[in-house]
Amino acid sequence: MSSISKQIEQLREQLRRHEHLYYVLDAPEITDAEYDSMMRELKVLEDAHPELITEDSPTQRVGGKPREGFVKVRHSSPMLSLDNALNEAELRDFDRRVRGLLGDGEEFRYVAELKFDGLSLAVHYRDGKLAQALTRGDGTTGEDVTENARTIRSIPLRTGAAEVRGEVVFTKKAFEKLNEDRAAEGLPVFANPRNAAAGSLRVLDPAITASRRLEYFAYVLMPLPATQTETLRQLQEMGFRVGTQWHSCSDIEALVAFCKEWEEKRDSLPYEIDGVVCKVDSVTQQQRLGWTAKAPRWAIAYKFPPRQEETVIESIEVQVGRTGVLTPVAHLRPVSISGVMVSRATLHNEDEIERLGVRIGDTVLVERAGDVIPKIVRVVRQGEHRHPVEMPKQCPVCGGEIVRAEGEAASRCINVNCPARLKESILHWAARGVMDIDGMGEALVDQLVDRGLVKNVADVYRLKFDDLVNLERMGEKSAEKLLANIARSRNAPLPRILNGLGISFVGERTALLLAGTFGDLDKIASSTEDELQQADEVGPKVAHSIHKFFAEPHNHKLIDALRCEGFRFTHEIKKREGGPLAGLTFVLTGTLPNLSRDDAKQRIEAAGGKVPASLSKKTNYVVAGEEAGSKLDKARELGVAVIDEARLLEMIGGVAG
Ligand code: IVH
Repeated sequence: MSSISKQIEQLREQLRRHEHLYYVLDAPEITDAEYDSMMRELKVLEDAHPELITEDSPTQRVGGKPREGFVKVRHSSPMLSLDNALNEAELRDFDRRVRGLLGDGEEFRYVAELKFDGLSLAVHYRDGKLAQALTRGDGTTGEDVTENARTIRSIPLRTGAAEVRGEVVFTKKAFEKLNEDRAAEGLPVFANPRNAAAGSLRVLDPAITASRRLEYFAYVLMPLPATQTETLRQLQEMGFRVGTQWHSCSDIEALVAFCKEWEEKRDSLPYEIDGVVCKVDSVTQQQRLGWTAKAPRWAIAYKFPPRQEETVIESIEVQVGRTGVLTPVAHLRPVSISGVMVSRATLHNEDEIERLGVRIGDTVLVERAGDVIPKIVRVVRQGEHRHPVEMPKQCPVCGGEIVRAEGEAASRCINVNCPARLKESILHWAARGVMDIDGMGEALVDQLVDRGLVKNVADVYRLKFDDLVNLERMGEKSAEKLLANIARSRNAPLPRILNGLGISFVGERTALLLAGTFGDLDKIASSTEDELQQADEVGPKVAHSIHKFFAEPHNHKLIDALRCEGFRFTHEIKKREGGPLAGLTFVLTGTLPNLSRDDAKQRIEAAGGKVPASLSKKTNYVVAGEEAGSKLDKARELGVAVIDEARLLEMIGGVAG
């Protein structure tokens, strides 16, 4: 093997290991930036040696070309579904049937697994490499979504399996974020994480699947091991993610206990489950029990009660959020959905109201899913005296102008001083994970704004003891505590301040990346949209929103006021962790066409790379210019990659000059 192909293979191995640590074990050993830079390094090498690119290279996940449609492919064996047990009695019936069929007294065990609420996907491997991925389709024939499946990090691109089946799911958090973004962009929202997973897997452009971060939980392995327990163990060993909460049960009592346990605990999981799948463990016994035309006799799905109920929309209120977006919220006739009273549901925006065709007075189906805000699924019956929702022409809070920008689904109140926006922005500023001002809740913020004590976030820092003690539900002690908490928040680091400002599309993570890239709020404020995109994960949409925020004179004033209050707007740029060359070492040799040696060194270091004086096996790249000397020979000897100035600049992501 040539030294380049060796280096490529090593990088691939490392990337695979880190992907597994991150996506399957949830235990990353390196930062995202280090991972990205390793990936970039591999890409650079593969670009230079396209003949060495293989289908199972981690670079090939990022999404191939969009396709024109999905090809239908027959499954190796039908993907049948399972019979359901809707309650404990039906689960016990299943156990009786199994015992009856196996014969009295025969020993056997069950395996109980979580029933992931997603869509099933069969993944085929040929010669150890991922060859094809098929959705369930009608059970006999599925759709070929191979390119999309490749982008799912918890599906290994290489394994010793012939075929693996499992479930593609969307995490609750990613689901909420996706819907928020879609609502803000005027796209229809997904009803639940399962629909979002299906919608993301069945898109023609794999880049979209890649951007949505789906998860895959595997539960079937072919060739079949001797038991289901062994299946799960081997899948895990091969690098698949299996639900860690499966349990081997010696009898029906243990099975019932597991089902009840997870019915209680389902909300604690980051993804949705809709039941527990109970399987006879031994494959020999499974085969003796056999199949009906529809489903195996050796397994059953214990389904949790649905978390959907019907109720009536009594009214629809339009709320104003901190970015001025008007959000219609349905007030429902209170209804208990699996033990939780639900009386409100979000409708996201006007388009969503139209899509659902809801009117006040209609009976609707409401779904509650974990910590996801209750949603209206569809209209069940139109109300006799139904009437349409009137979106206000003026802001319901300040009476200010409402604008619906072309191409946007959201209508906004454009008055930056609107009290509703102000209350929301103060609550966001004070929130946990932002400024962490304990004690600054809704009731307090309402009073502060209504009494005119706080007209912007900076005013919070001018509050005096006397202002506070006179408020409702505020004693001397709590006033003192609150003041101390407010004072403490002056030390908040730049990423939190950036997040706190409530710039559209700038949440915790983007704020961190921006602070790490620019190191200074003033730099961010004075950057062009192009410059802003130097930060990781900042695209045109986010850059535009940041730029617009800082162009607003009102926001300038706010920042000056915060500065006067003692906030510090600088942040240490973590070169090692943040830059595109993080974790990489470079040795320079010869004369480069544009950059002086010092220049080159400075740029590499600014991008997070290291420039040691001498060449060793640990060096990642030798940057060679004209008349490169003995270092070049040594590089070849050690198998270190040799690049030129142009490639170096490409890796840094900048141009000479
Ligand atoms: S086993 C022939 N295990 O639920 C048995 N299925 O209602 C194959 N599902 O079609 C299925 N989690 O899409 C199995 N741990 C799990 C599962 C699971 C979710 C889905 C699967 C299946 C459906 C049956």
